[in-house]
Amino acid sequence: MRNIVIAGNWKMYKSNSEAKELVEELKNKTNDIIKTRMIVCPPYTALSIAAELVKGTNIQVGAQNMYWEQQGAFTGEISTEMIKSTGATFVLIGHSERRQFFGETDETVNKKLKAALQSGLNPIVCIGETLEERESGVTNDVVGKQVEKALADISTESMKKVVLAYEPIWAIGTGKTATPEQAQDVHKFIRSILFRLYNTEVGNEIVIQYGGSVKPENATELLSQPDIDGALVGGACLKAESFSEIIKAAEKLS
Ligand code: PGA
Repeated sequence: MRNIVIAGNWKMYKSNSEAKELVEELKNKTNDIIKTRMIVCPPYTALSIAAELVKGTNIQVGAQNMYWEQQGAFTGEISTEMIKSTGATFVLIGHSERRQFFGETDETVNKKLKAALQSGLNPIVCIGETLEERESGVTNDVVGKQVEKALADISTESMKKVVLAYEPIWAIGTGKTATPEQAQDVHKFIRSILFRLYNTEVGNEIVIQYGGSVKPENATELLSQPDIDGALVGGACLKAESFSEIIKAAEKLS
C-alpha cells in the first residue's frame, strides 16, 4: 500500500569531493532497487552535486533545512526556490537537532511546512520525545502536540505530500534504538491523529518513517512493523555500504 521511503540525513558531514564519492558509490549499489524510494540529504553545499549525479536514477535529493521567506535580508538562510534550483525535491523540517540547537519550535516548523508545500518541495517533518519525556510517560502527549502544531492549517490535499518521521531524541546518534514495539506504538498513535485530523485515506496514505540509530542489523525488524513505512537514517547513511544494506532490507519487504 505505502512504498517504503528510506532517507539519509548526512547532517554536517561530507565535503564536496566526499559527497561525490558517496553518491557515486550509492548509485552503484542501488541500481537494482525498484520499489523503495531513496532520498539523500547532503549539506546545502553539496545539493547541486548530488542532484546532478542522481539524474536518471531512483534516488532523490533533499535539503536538511530551509527558511520560510522567499528572499530578503536573512543572512545564512536559504529559500525553497534556492533549494529547488539545485535539483533537490525534498526538505527535512524540524529535525530534533534543529529544535535543540537552533531554536526551532512547533510554530517555525509549521511556517516552514507551509512554505515548503507552497513551493512544491516534498517535506519530511520530524517529531519525537526526549528521554525524560519518555520516562515520565508523556510520549504520546508530546508527539501528539508536535504533530498537531506542525500540521496546523495544512489542507487534506497538501497533507498527502507530507512525510512524517518519528525520531525519539534519545535514540538519535546514541546507538540506542527504540524497540520495534515501542516505535510501532507511537507510529500507530500518530496515524490515529491523522485519521482524526484528516480522513481514512490520508491516514492510510501518509508515510511515517522511523529514525534513531537505524542500521542494517535492525532495519528489517523495524520496517516490518505495520505502521513503520521507512527510515530516516543518520550515522549509517554516511557509508554507501551500510546505507545500501538498509535500502536492500526495505526492498525485500516491498
Ligand atoms: P542516527 O540519526 O541514525 O545517527 O541516530 C538519525 C537522525 O538524526 O535522523
